[in-house]
Amino acid sequence: MQTVRRSEELALALGEMRAAGTVALVPTMGALHAGHIALVAEAKRRADHVVATIFVNPMQFGAGEDFGRYPRRQAEDSELLEDNGCDLLWTPAVEDIYPADFATKVSVSGVSDRWEGEARPGHFDGVATVVAKLLMSVRPDVAVFGEKDFQQLAVIRRMAADLGLGVEIVGAPTVREPDGLALSSRNAYLSDDERRHAAALPNALNEAARAIGTGEPVSPVLEQAKQSLLEAGFSRVDYFALIDANTFEPLDGPAGEMRLIAAAVIGSTRLIDNIAV
Ligand code: PAJ
Repeated sequence: MQTVRRSEELALALGEMRAAGTVALVPTMGALHAGHIALVAEAKRRADHVVATIFVNPMQFGAGEDFGRYPRRQAEDSELLEDNGCDLLWTPAVEDIYPADFATKVSVSGVSDRWEGEARPGHFDGVATVVAKLLMSVRPDVAVFGEKDFQQLAVIRRMAADLGLGVEIVGAPTVREPDGLALSSRNAYLSDDERRHAAALPNALNEAARAIGTGEPVSPVLEQAKQSLLEAGFSRVDYFALIDANTFEPLDGPAGEMRLIAAAVIGSTRLIDNIAV
């Protein structure tokens, strides 16, 4: 695996790669786990060459969020990517992505408006801007993102289609711990005690999906789910909702393609998760 930092080096490495076949991109913020590696495996199935990026993107973190303490483990990440068949790793510097005079923002309305967009103002502008820049720098045939961040995936699909980036956006299923907790770089913030209680989040999603599947009325099911999280030791539930999987509008009864999405805080850690219904 070749590792490059500057965009000039990236262009050189990509030139050779593109001449030899197709390219799939896996953007990440590092602190890699089996969820990220599943994206690399999916990328390998979809293209001849896999490019990964590690960039902790300051623009997608709000004031008071965890940009400063976000885990950074480049040596381990590099080894993990190499062992799993990644061909090229790009780790740009902040000045390369955002030069001093950088003044552009990519903003996706509609699918960005609610849920994470509401709880984290500006977050999806930061995601859409950096992913647009990464896609335009690498120009991959395919780019792979996790369903773990279900709304992010929808924002990126919309952005890539609207800007005509000519890349296929692929979603990959969420990789989970044996107790159901979705793998996340932020799980590293959990104390042992919080970690034991964190599985209440996927449990609540599964229980709500089951109840809605058997025809129970949606609103009390969602209330019960929120209550179960508070009882399990979560301090706050930002949202626990049934949505239309395409528009992200809330649903109060079963309709079409649905998704249950949730965000809740345990200790100092904010976790998000979602499942199909
Ligand atoms: P990061 O949180 O590092 O996630 C990188 C990719 O891995 C995203 O597509 C995310 O959905 C996926 N992922 C995370 N946990 C996963 C899991 N348990 N199973 C499957 N996939 C998982 O998401 C970002 O970084 C950033 O917002 C980024 C897209 C890189 C833009 O900065």
